[in-house]
Amino acid sequence: MPIVRDKKIEVLFTAKQIAKRNHELSEEIALGDLKDILVISVLKGSFVFAADLIRALHKAGLTPEVEFIYVSSYGAGTTAGKVKLLRDVDSDVKDRDILLIDDILESGSTMNFVRNLLLERGANKVAIVTLLDKSMRRKTEISADYVGFECPDKFVVGYGMDVGHAFRELPFVGVVTGEA
Ligand code: IMP
Ligand code: MG
Repeated sequence: MPIVRDKKIEVLFTAKQIAKRNHELSEEIALGDLKDILVISVLKGSFVFAADLIRALHKAGLTPEVEFIYVSSYGAGTTAGKVKLLRDVDSDVKDRDILLIDDILESGSTMNFVRNLLLERGANKVAIVTLLDKSMRRKTEISADYVGFECPDKFVVGYGMDVGHAFRELPFVGVVTGEA
């Protein structure tokens, strides 16, 4: 079991499993109906996934534009349902087909907020790809069009995901299980 910051980390999804899944997802996306894709990576948690996925999209023959939006949940806990826009996209999204990338779809508040914002601005389509789906935690009517893995109901770290800004650098997704 890997030990990082004197903590034992149980690996849920290995770097190899994630890489394979990214290529499968990209093939699925390439076969889908999105045209002239504008990718929007939802910061901060999705930056590692987005970096790998856009290169897998290239391998799948796609030529997306890539943008970022920075939002954060606030209130008690990460899933309090209130979402704040911290940094907007620069692009005009009117009439665009958008692929939103996030790390985890949990209550759905984050994706619901971002999707509605883009649709209000006249986006043609907004598709969602999430690395992990905690579907048992959903509180809004939203689902991802593309899901990397179903995620157990545990707080996960690594591959961009953090606790207090730590553990983002791990090449795998895991759960902190205790002191080493
Ligand atoms: P939602 O708005 O409840 O769907 O929450 C999704 C956001 O919460 C994700 O974009 C993550 O940033 C964060 N989040 C949810 N669960 C976890 C976790 O297990 N580890 C790290 N971040 C998480
Ligand atoms: Mg996030």
